[in-house]
Amino acid sequence: MSDNKRGLGAWLLGAALLAFMVFNGTALTARAEQAVLESADCGKCHEKQVLAIESDGGRHQTKVTCVDCHVEHRPRGKDVIPPCARCHEGRPHFSLANCLGCHSDPHMPMNLQLAADLTGPCLTCHEQQGQEFKEYPSKHSRLSCTFCHSAHGLIPECFQCHKPHVEDQTMPQCLGCHPVHQPRKIVYPMTTPRRFCVPCHAGIGELMAKTKTKHRNFTCAYCHRGDHPSMPTCRVCHGEPHGPEMIAKWPVCIDCHIDSHNLQK
Ligand code: HEC
Ligand code: HEC
Ligand code: HEC
Ligand code: HEC
Ligand code: HEC
Ligand code: HEC
Ligand code: HEC
Ligand code: HEC
Ligand code: HEC
Ligand code: HEC
Ligand code: HEC
Ligand code: HEC
Repeated sequence: MSDNKRGLGAWLLGAALLAFMVFNGTALTARAEQAVLESADCGKCHEKQVLAIESDGGRHQTKVTCVDCHVEHRPRGKDVIPPCARCHEGRPHFSLANCLGCHSDPHMPMNLQLAADLTGPCLTCHEQQGQEFKEYPSKHSRLSCTFCHSAHGLIPECFQCHKPHVEDQTMPQCLGCHPVHQPRKIVYPMTTPRRFCVPCHAGIGELMAKTKTKHRNFTCAYCHRGDHPSMPTCRVCHGEPHGPEMIAKWPVCIDCHIDSHNLQK
């Protein structure tokens, strides 16, 4: 039998039942009390909703029943469709408009349909990420949350939208320098290999590959510590290696040592 035919059969049976209940309601009060619809009855006429809740009802299956939400039934009562606020109140998220815009089917409440340009509604639960965007404005903070998170909880790869600086760079390495919600707050560890810096500082990379002095063994990040672009002074590491008379005459170290990346002695 096709779904349609079965649906029609159930409907006819249902309509008969309902008519029965309605007519008896006025005549025989005691019988009417017994004839009050219970959740177990609903499936006879509303198979679709019952199946939906069984497959994906989540806490709308386990914490509430049909009649907790649908308190009355036409034509007897008018309180048929509940407002969400009857049960969901008291959090910023619950003051959003149009709950059904995202929770498109209350019988499958976690089946979300998200528009492509949402930010405000996300912040009702993820205040921190909104705060991160505000603290360090970047080109990412001009994007909407769902531009990157196209489904709830989905984490995009950087490579969906960017090329790496060096071919074999991995996403955890990108994140090591660019916290994704604050990509311009570039902080890296001292162990960051030189080849991550040289794509953009090729000249210095070449110098350091050739130089014969002890500086040649260091990563760039060993001297340029912490954040980009940080600039050390020689004295941070060497203190005052020469006598005070000499320094009084030539205070600038690289007047003699010429280049920190290719020292002259
Ligand atoms: C005997 C068949 C039958 C049973 C049993 C039945 N319904 Fe209905 N229901 C109908 C019909 C027919 C309609 C359409 C009536 C209308 O639109 O006025 C309907 C409509 C509805 C609507 C939509 C009302 C609206 O205004 O859009 C809801 C909600 C509903 N039923 C919930 C339930 C729940 C919950 C149960 C179980 C407690 C239930 N029904 C049991 C036949 C039934
Ligand atoms: C009769 C009360 C009631 C109504 C009306 C109601 N809910 Fe719920 N809802 C609940 C309860 C109870 C829970 C479980 C909450 C908990 O465990 O803290 C819940 C949970 C949820 C969940 C989480 C489901 C899950 O599996 O984790 C969503 C989403 C939700 N409701 C959305 C809605 C929306 C949208 C509406 C309006 C269309 C709505 N609810 C109307 C009672 C209700
Ligand atoms: C958490 C509350 C909640 C529960 C539980 C719930 N419903 Fe609903 N139901 C709604 C809401 C809200 C609507 C209105 C949806 C809309 O406007 O799109 C609705 C709509 C309906 C409709 C109208 C057709 C439709 O799908 O829009 C029927 C029929 C229905 N529900 C039956 C049931 C049955 C049967 C059960 C139990 C198996 C049930 N509902 C459980 C909240 C609930
Ligand atoms: C812009 C989309 C959107 C709108 C509008 C929206 N929600 Fe949600 N809602 C979500 C997302 C996303 C989640 C998180 C789902 C998850 O945790 O997987 C969620 C989760 C929930 C939850 C379960 C999580 C929890 O913390 O208990 C409830 C309940 C809920 N929403 C109720 C509502 C109600 C009520 C409304 C209307 C006042 C509403 N939502 C409006 C997107 C929305
Ligand atoms: C009702 C509250 C709520 C709303 C609204 C909400 N989220 Fe969530 N979100 C959560 C919760 C709770 C988790 C944690 C789920 C888990 O740990 O599995 C989560 C997880 C996430 C994660 C995955 C985190 C991880 O560690 O993997 C991302 C990404 C995310 N949400 C983005 C969004 C975006 C984008 C929006 C707006 C469309 C949004 N959320 C709206 C409650 C919400
Ligand atoms: C440019 C793309 C992009 C945008 C825009 C974006 N995210 Fe993310 N988000 C990511 C990536 C990638 C991760 C994984 C980060 C990680 O693993 O450290 C992530 C992680 C998350 C997480 C998990 C916890 C965390 O902070 O690592 C949440 C929650 C989240 N995003 C919410 C949001 C919200 C809310 C917005 C909008 C205000 C947003 N995201 C905007 C790409 C983005
Ligand atoms: C869904 C696409 C998308 C994803 C995923 C994404 N980005 Fe972006 N990102 C952009 C766009 C768009 C821009 C702005 C480009 C422009 O205007 O030139 C941008 C800009 C940037 C910028 C420059 C920021 C500025 O203000 O100058 C950095 C750095 C960046 N992304 C790093 C990352 C990293 C690291 C990841 C992964 C953790 C990532 N992005 C994931 C789309 C994305
Ligand atoms: C060693 C740290 C480091 C790593 C690892 C790193 N970046 Fe960068 N990234 C930077 C620096 C520094 C800039 C330049 C910032 C500026 O212009 O001031 C930058 C700039 C960018 C920009 C802006 C556009 C451009 O090319 O100038 C994008 C996009 C970007 N990085 C994406 C990525 C992605 C994707 C990865 C991982 C494959 C990644 N970055 C790994 C340090 C790093
Ligand atoms: C994606 C390209 C890119 C990468 C990767 C990159 N830089 Fe830069 N760097 C730049 C740009 C562009 C500037 C100049 C703009 C600025 O000051 O932010 C700069 C400036 C600097 C400066 C300051 C120069 C001055 O004259 O003030 C230092 C020092 C520096 N970078 C060191 C590093 C180190 C160390 C690394 C690796 C950990 C690195 N950079 C990785 C692009 C990059
Ligand atoms: C982050 C720390 C650091 C900074 C900044 C730094 N150096 Fe060094 N430098 C070292 C270390 C460590 C050595 C090796 C010492 C050893 O092995 O005895 C060294 C060695 C040297 C040597 C001896 C080279 C050789 O091959 O024998 C000279 C000269 C020198 N540094 C000069 C400078 C000058 C000039 C500057 C500033 C332009 C500078 N350094 C900045 C850490 C640093
Ligand atoms: C031994 C410490 C040390 C190492 C290793 C080092 N630098 Fe430097 N760097 C310095 C110092 C000190 C200065 C400032 C020189 C000055 O005062 O002019 C500097 C200046 C710079 C500048 C700006 C001035 C210029 O020459 O353009 C850039 C860019 C730079 N370094 C990038 C790098 C990169 C990329 C690497 C790795 C390939 C690197 N540095 C390795 C100490 C170091
Ligand atoms: C007037 C030129 C001149 C100036 C200015 C100068 N140096 Fe030197 N420096 C030298 C010479 C020449 C040597 C080699 C002496 C030797 O090998 O005994 C040297 C050696 C060094 C050494 C290596 C010492 C060792 O034991 O191998 C360090 C480190 C050093 N200088 C750091 C600095 C720092 C830091 C400054 C700035 C505060 C500085 N120099 C300023 C000329 C100079």
